[in-house]
Amino acid sequence: MNITIRNETPEDFRRVEEITREAFWNLYVPGCVEHYLAHVMRSHEDFMRELDFVALADGRLVGNIMYTRSFVENEQGGRLETITFGPVSVLPEYQRKGIGSALIRHTIQKARESGHAAIIIYGSPYNYCKHGFKSGRDFNIGNAEGRYPFSLLVLELKEGVFAGHAWKYHESVVFGIDPAAAEEFDRTFEPKEKGWRYTQEEFSIACRH
Ligand SMILES: CC(C)(COP(=O)(O)OP(=O)(O)OC[C@H]1O[C@@H](n2cnc3c(N)ncnc32)[C@H](O)[C@@H]1OP(=O)(O)O)[C@@H](O)C(=O)NCCC(=O)NCCS
Repeated sequence: MNITIRNETPEDFRRVEEITREAFWNLYVPGCVEHYLAHVMRSHEDFMRELDFVALADGRLVGNIMYTRSFVENEQGGRLETITFGPVSVLPEYQRKGIGSALIRHTIQKARESGHAAIIIYGSPYNYCKHGFKSGRDFNIGNAEGRYPFSLLVLELKEGVFAGHAWKYHESVVFGIDPAAAEEFDRTFEPKEKGWRYTQEEFSIACRH
């Protein structure tokens, strides 16, 4: 299988949203909202077009990754710009073939070249430690309430950039989506049944702090 990575174009938008929906459906909650998030993210001021990539497997679009601007704030009010990826999605039948890793590696390299300080995400350590991510706790980075969720993960791109301070992470406000609007947007796709999966329990545990 030949995997290629290129920037997303407007012609890809709906396909990317379909892939996102397929990848996240019933994974963390019954149904999902990530395809709506992808939809609204592109026109948000925090969206980073230069880090918006899709993956093609033998010419077929099967995965994508999107980034937004985020920041951390320290105990003295000092602010440091960071970046955040998500959603990152691979069509279920193409998962576990290295496509997600290729998207992550590709964009980490781009982010490093552009001089970004760090990538901070909420995600499963099982997906991201292999790419060098560590717990926020290791860098004294908590969430906005000063807690340290299991899923708050950090990849330092400039070594020592967080040293000597305690930080709170703030993701883009674009993540605070309106559930009713997401539900309405979902109705423009093929009907799909919502249901329970054990991964929803894993997710609920990972989000606790
Ligand atoms: C998370 C996600 C983007 C990862 O994409 P992916 O293409 O499946 O990722 P990869 O194939 O690169 O890696 C996944 C696993 O497949 C393994 N793998 C990679 N290439 C492989 C191959 N040729 N044969 C078999 N396994 C392979 C990797 O080693 C990895 O396993 P590991 O965790 O045991 O190391 C994808 O699973 C997805 O869309 N999930 C649903 C949405 C989601 O949860 N997104 C992230 C939100 S936090």
